[in-house]
Order: sequence, then C-alpha cells, then structure tokens
Amino acid sequence: MTGRVRSILLLISCLVVSIQSENCHFAQNYNLNQLLNDAAAQDSFLMSASYWEGKFATDRIGINYASGLTYDGTSIDYTTGLPYPGGLHEFSAASKEAVHVSLLALAIEGKSKYAVNFFQSSMQAVHWNGTVQEYGIDQLTRKIGSYEQFNQQYPGFGGFLPWYALNDSGVQLLNGWTSKIPALDNGELIWGLIAVVQVLTENGGYPTLLGRYTRQVTKMARNGLTIFYDGAGSGTVRCVAQIRNVDILPTRSNYYRDGECVLNDPYEGELFVFFVDFFSDWTNYAPGDKDKVWQNKRPQLQRATLHSSFGPITVERGWMHSSHEKWKYMELPYFDIPINNAVFLNGERARSQFSFMNSYPGLFASAANVSQPGNYNPNYISATGIQEIASAHVDTNALVTPYGAYPLLLHPTTRPYGIVWYASMLQGSKMQGPQGSTESVSIQGDLISPINTWDTKITSVLAFSGGIIDITRRYIQQTGHYIRFATVVATEWGRVFGEDNLSGSNIAFALPRASVPQKLPMFTGCTSKK
Ligand SMILES: *[C@@H]1O[C@H](CO)[C@@H](O)[C@H](O)[C@H]1NC(C)=O
Ligand SMILES: *[C@@H]1O[C@H](CO)[C@@H](O)[C@H](O)[C@H]1NC(C)=O
Ligand SMILES: *[C@@H]1O[C@H](CO)[C@@H](O)[C@H](O)[C@H]1NC(C)=O
Ligand SMILES: *[C@@H]1O[C@H](CO)[C@@H](O)[C@H](O)[C@H]1NC(C)=O
Repeated sequence: MTGRVRSILLLISCLVVSIQSENCHFAQNYNLNQLLNDAAAQDSFLMSASYWEGKFATDRIGINYASGLTYDGTSIDYTTGLPYPGGLHEFSAASKEAVHVSLLALAIEGKSKYAVNFFQSSMQAVHWNGTVQEYGIDQLTRKIGSYEQFNQQYPGFGGFLPWYALNDSGVQLLNGWTSKIPALDNGELIWGLIAVVQVLTENGGYPTLLGRYTRQVTKMARNGLTIFYDGAGSGTVRCVAQIRNVDILPTRSNYYRDGECVLNDPYEGELFVFFVDFFSDWTNYAPGDKDKVWQNKRPQLQRATLHSSFGPITVERGWMHSSHEKWKYMELPYFDIPINNAVFLNGERARSQFSFMNSYPGLFASAANVSQPGNYNPNYISATGIQEIASAHVDTNALVTPYGAYPLLLHPTTRPYGIVWYASMLQGSKMQGPQGSTESVSIQGDLISPINTWDTKITSVLAFSGGIIDITRRYIQQTGHYIRFATVVATEWGRVFGEDNLSGSNIAFALPRASVPQKLPMFTGCTSKK
C-alpha cells in the first residue's frame, strides 16, 4: 500500500470513528425496512446503540466508579440531555446490579461484541489504558469489595442486597429498607453473579476474584431459605423478608414475612425460586417442600387470549404484560424447552400485534412517567401493559419505552423485529441523548421522561447481547441441575399449554405502523465532551 492510500484510509477511518462518536441521534440514519432485512445495518445499528448506552455506565451517572456499584440512574436536562445537576438517583437495588454484573460477565467472556463495545465506550470516561477485559475485572473487583464490606458490616442481610443508598464508601442503608430485603431482585442478581463465576472459571486467569465471587454465591445459597422460606411445610417464599437484627449472622428466627406477599409469580420471581431449588439445603424442612413451592405457584400460570386483527393468539396471562415481566428469559435458558419457547413467542406476537392494531408507536413496560419541562421527578408507572391479557388493572397506554422491545431483542427469531421497534422508539422526539436512550415518551411525542435508568436502557443492551443464558446453561449443566430445570419448566408450562394447542402461532410478528411524532427539538448535548 502506498503511503498516500494509507493516509487516505486513515483519514476515512478517523472520520468514521468521529461520526460514530459525535452523532448521538444515530437512529435517524436508518430506515426501518432496511433494519428489518439487512444484517449489516442491524449490526452497525446495535454497535451505535451499545456505544451510546455505554456512556450511561460511567461515574455519577449509572455507576459509582470508586465502589463499582450501580446508581439507579439520573435525571437529565430537558434541553441538553446531559445529567441534571442534583438529579443523580443516589440509590439502587440488586436488579440494577444484575444488569451490570451480567454485562460484565459477557464482556469478560468476550463473545458478545455489543457487551464489549458497551464497556469500551464506558471506559473512555476514565481514560482506561488497558483492555476491556481488564476494565471489566477492575469493575468486578471493586464491586465484590463493596459487597464484602456490606456483608461484614450488616451480617443480618446474609449476603443479599436491599434497596440501598451509596457513595464512594460503598453500600449504605436506605430509608425504608434498613431492615428488609426483596427476593425477586436478588434472584436477578444471583444469576448474574453465577455468570461471573462461570466465565472466570473458564478463563482461569483470575483465581482470587473467582474465589470471592464463588463465596458470595455460596453465602446466598446457604442463607436463601433461612431468610426467605416461610417455614417448614409452607411451600412459600417471602417476597420481602424482615430482619429483626441486622447485626447478627442468619438464623431462621431472625426473619419473618413482610406483609402477605409470597413469591409465587410465574415471571421474574422464578429466578430466585430456581436458585434455592438447586443450591439451598432443604433437609431441615418438610419432605416435599421443594415441590410444594412449584405446586403453590400453579394457579398464577394461566392461559389468556389476545384477539388480534389476524385472529386469536394464545398467551400466558401477564401481571400487566409489561415487558419487565420477561426478565427471567435473559438469565436462564427457558427457550430450550419447546413448549415454553412457543408460549414466549406467542406473547411477543401479542405484544407487537397489540401495538400494531392500536397504532401505538412503541411497546409498553413499567417506567417513569413523562413530565412537563421543569419537572425532573415524574411518578413511576408500574401498571402499563396489555389489559386484555393481564391479571391486574392497566392504568395507561399513553407512553412507550425503548425497553418495551427487549423481549423481542432477546430471542434470536424475533431480534430483527425487536430492532425495528426499538429503532422506531429511538427515532422519537428527544429519545436519543448523550447517554443513549431516554426513559419514555408520550405516544403523541409531546413529552418525555427526562430520566436515564438501568431498567429502561440497559436491559435492551443485555437482551441484544443475547442475555447470559448460554453461560448459565453451562453452569447448571456442570453443577447437575439442568435436567431439574428443564423438567420443571416442561411440566409446569406443559400442564397449562399442552402440546400443539396454541392459537395464533402462525401469525406474524407485527411491525410499527405509527411513529412517535417529532414534536420536540433534539437534545443539544450530543457532542459535548465529558
Ligand atoms: C492513561 O494514560 C494517560 C497518558 O499516558 C495517563 O495520563 C492516564 O493517567 C492513564 N490512565 C489510567 C487510568 O491509567
Ligand atoms: C458515605 O455515607 C456514609 C453514611 O452517610 C458516611 O458515613 C460516609 O462518610 C460517606 N462517604 C463518603 C465518601 O462520602
Ligand atoms: C403522567 O404524566 C402526564 C403529564 O404530566 C399526566 O397527564 C398523566 O396523568 C400521568 N399519568 C399517570 C398514569 O400518572
Ligand atoms: C387446549 O388446552 C387446554 C388446556 O389444556 C384445554 O382446556 C383446551 O380444551 C385445549 N383446546 C384445544 C382446541 O385442544
């Protein structure tokens, strides 16, 4: 190659890099039809998405760099899209940790180019000079140090995380959660930690760190039933356990159920139930207790039908049918079980057809509400979804959120449809900013939620990176629990859905027929350097 050609190529590649790094409104560069069909376009779109979302996982935005812990998120300026002064959410929970830890496991494994790209983007904020794997190891080292310190300071939490406050010194107790812990969020975190253990075991290069993560998982397994099981013969797991004394090591009498709630949902709560099913010691409880937990869950697993324009679609009834409820599919290999896979896919047919039929310009999941400029603290809307196939009341379909698309982004069969729905929402008013996607937007496009959070942003990155299911599958195979997993899922979903009996499984996944109207000027903060 001549020097001149080489310098022209170098110039072109510099231009490409600077275009990627200076246009946070990248989704506008794609046409949705091309995104559905063209693998190269999909790949470049997901590279840009992971690059911009990576800007969220930086100090005092989505993480506390010193402690390696997540912040829930931050408010953003309605005009610039940059973090709003004083708007940092100085608290977090095990569910946000779950997304961070899972992506770190993927980046260290190195097979998902999007997870790698996400942290390659994040690490620029600290001028990291090493590799992305070294960056991931550094983050994991800081994080486990924070967990160990918390475990030592408050042994009564037994290795589990409450909703917590945080600063550079690590986890602090948060008002309202000073003596109680949720099972569901910790179930999400545990499988992320297990993914780290599996990846570090296979890597072989970090035995000390592996030992620390292994001890954390072992502690959670040892204390899982002690803290959350509602007593011999009950067959129930507590949604939230109250702690009598946070200063002493776990014994059964130190915990009791908070209110009436038991963890019997067929959704995300299962991540915790499978963990204790596989790894906790049941010998001190009544015989048959382990199976009784699954039996007690049965009434909640129900058939429902969405009446789409193309005919009925049989689905699993949702709580609200918010996409949030599909979280477990990112963490355990449910798609391996054909009946469960078929039910999942019908659920996504229904999700996409529902928005198509109603000309909604996006998909629905629990998120912070939109707000008028000047209000940086909108209410959280849990009850959004699809009323026809929900058990609970759905309050509103007035706003859509990018992570409504994450179940479609996760499954390899539906990923192109997921990309189109996701891109369509990102193309809406103020839906792309200097830290990537925005929390939510009104379906009229006149208001946004000026917030960035792990839940509504980074679940999509984890999903289009494939989730951690290939890693956790190896772990449960190697620890001898895969057959139990597959048997329970096949039995429970088989009971309710039979074999060849799902209406609508020939109906297509729908694409958006409406877009979010462009009513607001773009964020101005895209090109600013932090
Ligand atoms: C990376 O290298 C630059 C230039 O040599 C140096 O100023 C900076 O401190 C280094 N950063 C880290 C995290 O080591
Ligand atoms: C973090 O918060 C705790 C509890 O409020 C406080 O004692 C500690 O000094 C804080 N650390 C930093 C670095 O601000
Ligand atoms: C969400 O916020 C909008 C704008 O402030 C308001 O009109 C609407 O009632 C809120 N929706 C819910 C369900 O709280
Ligand atoms: C489908 O399965 C359900 C539950 O097993 C059953 O009640 C229903 O009759 C079946 N429908 C058909 C058409 O086979």
